[in-house]
Amino acid sequence: MENNTLKVLEILKQNYGKFVSGEKIARLLKISRVAVYKIVKNLIAEGYKIKKVKNLGYKIINFPFSPQDLLKENISIVKQVYFYKSVNSTMDVAKEIVEKNNDVENVLVIAETQTKGKGRLKRQWFSPKGGIWFSLILRPNVTPDKIFQLNYVFSLAVANTLRKYSIDAKTKWPNDVVVDDKKICGILIEADVEVDRLNWCIVGVGINVNINRKFFLRHNLQATSLSEILGGNVDLNEFLRNFFKELEIQCNKFISGRVQEIVYLWSKICSTLGRKVKIVTIDKEIVGKALKILPQTGELMIKTSSNEIKRISFGDCLHLRS
Ligand code: BTN
Repeated sequence: MENNTLKVLEILKQNYGKFVSGEKIARLLKISRVAVYKIVKNLIAEGYKIKKVKNLGYKIINFPFSPQDLLKENISIVKQVYFYKSVNSTMDVAKEIVEKNNDVENVLVIAETQTKGKGRLKRQWFSPKGGIWFSLILRPNVTPDKIFQLNYVFSLAVANTLRKYSIDAKTKWPNDVVVDDKKICGILIEADVEVDRLNWCIVGVGINVNINRKFFLRHNLQATSLSEILGGNVDLNEFLRNFFKELEIQCNKFISGRVQEIVYLWSKICSTLGRKVKIVTIDKEIVGKALKILPQTGELMIKTSSNEIKRISFGDCLHLRS
C-alpha cells in the first residue's frame, strides 16, 4: 500500500466511529482534497467500508477480513497464514502443504468462502462469505490416541469465545458447538499416524459468524449464526483474534497434559450430558442417557435402558426428547 494511503487509513482508524473531513486529512498529509478523495475511493474498492457524507467527511465503518494480522498478535499456534478468497476446502489446501513440507506446523489455512467445504462423515459443509472457515496444521507431541482430545480443546475454545459475546453457547458431543440445539460450529480432524506416532494433524473449524438466517432456511439447515442471535454483524477480524487467543490458552493446557481441566470445563457447558441420546456409529446405534466424559480417553459414558454402561469413542450424536 502506498505511503499516503497508509496514512489516510491511520487517520480514519484513529477516528474510528467519527467523521473526519477531507479538508483536515488533506491538511495533515499536505496533499489535495482530490487526492484524499481518490485514496478513499481505492480503499473502498479494496474492501474497506467507508461512509462519505457531504460537509462531514469520511468515517471508517469496517475493515476487510485480514487474518494475516494474527501474526502481529504473538500467538504461538499460528506461525504462518495462507489466506484465500475462495478455495474448494481449506482441508485439501492444508493437506497439500503438509504433504509437501515435512516439518511445517502451526500453519493456518483460511478462506473467505469454500466451494466444497467438508463436514464429518463425508457431509457437505456450507461455507458462504461471513463465516470463519479454517484448517490449522499441528504436530503435537502426543500419541495417536490423544488426537480425539483436540475436539474438546477446539470446541471449548469456540464456545468460550462465543460466550464472550454474551451468547449461551454449549458444547455438544463429540465436537460441535450449539446454541439452543442449533449448530453454530463444526470441527473436523484429519491426521497422519504411524503405529504409535502422530506425524501431523489438521484441525478444520467452521464457525457461522455473520450468516443470514435465510441462508440456513434455504438450505434446510438446523443451524444458527452469531449475527442471527445478536441481530447484527460482528467484526470478523476481532472475532478471529479473540478466538485464537482463547485457543492458545486451551492448547497450552493440552500440551502440558492438563486434559482433565479441559474436559471439566467442556462438560460444564455441555448440552449432551444428562440427556437421552442416540449415538450412531458405522455398525451400530446406541440409545441411552449420556452420563459423563472420561478425560483420559474422551469417551462418552452412556447408561442404556437396560442399565448397561457403554463407553463410546466416536459417532454421530442425536439429542432425543426424554
Ligand atoms: C462437521 O461436520 O461438523 C465438521 C465441519 C467442519 C467444517 C470446516 S470449515 C473449515 C474446514 N474446511 C472444510 O472443508 N471443513 C472444515
